[in-house]
Amino acid sequence: MKLTLFAILSVATSVFGQQGGTGPYKAWYKTDPGLPNHTIYLPVPDQHPASMPVLLWGNGACSANGLDFQKFLTNVASQGVIVIANGRPGGQGSSNNQWMHDALRWVRQNAGKTWPYERVDASRVAAAGMSCGGVEAYEMRNSGVVGIGIFNSGLLDGNNRARIMSEVKAPIFYFMGGPSDIAYQNAEQDYRLVPGNVASWKGNLNVGHGGTYQDNEGGKFGWAAVNWVKWVLRQDVSGRAFFTEGGAQRDGWQVESKRLDLIR
Ligand SMILES: *[C@@H]1O[C@H](CO)[C@@H](O)[C@H](O)[C@H]1NC(C)=O
Repeated sequence: MKLTLFAILSVATSVFGQQGGTGPYKAWYKTDPGLPNHTIYLPVPDQHPASMPVLLWGNGACSANGLDFQKFLTNVASQGVIVIANGRPGGQGSSNNQWMHDALRWVRQNAGKTWPYERVDASRVAAAGMSCGGVEAYEMRNSGVVGIGIFNSGLLDGNNRARIMSEVKAPIFYFMGGPSDIAYQNAEQDYRLVPGNVASWKGNLNVGHGGTYQDNEGGKFGWAAVNWVKWVLRQDVSGRAFFTEGGAQRDGWQVESKRLDLIR
């Protein structure tokens, strides 16, 4: 009874977005009063898989609008992932490095306990972001994340590049826009400094810095991200072929990789 009342109150005080995504679980977004500066993308309540890993997401320009990547993130969530984007829906201004840490703390408090997060697995959290948001994702490298996704981004701080890269422990994937991407040179330098005992993949699709996030379902960047979360986050090997058997190249990505055998 108490739980039902809580559930009704929680619905009444949350905002819900449009349903979509190409994955097996229809996804949408919602807000949560416990995390007011974020937008939560997840499968609709009756379609939760047995276990849902978590993706923390930082927007381009470190924007505080959690809907900036709505199509792309809805598609990712429809794979059975809960995505927590920096910024509430329609939020203004900028996020900072603390916001992903706030989201992670909230995940650890609510996963497995609070409706509708009973099936959230706080032991499987990845961090990713686009452009400025990618730098926010790097900041999570020492927080126990099981994957890092760098989208059209790279470290801006050349003085600390070697030290920061030496601290990367989780598989790290780069989704870049080719030589005309303003972050291209930084990502190339970062990639070369990934420690030898860490799995890494780098793809360049020649579309420039903006990627394809605003296309339906996030376009080719959306499809690449779907395969990434399937394999690295959900441990579903059906995502692996995109990276290891030419799927990305057939989609136009120029790829390099190291030690992908370390990913289970
Ligand atoms: C949300 O963001 C605003 C603006 O940055 C900040 O003042 C406020 O403290 C944040 N709220 C929470 C709960 O973190």
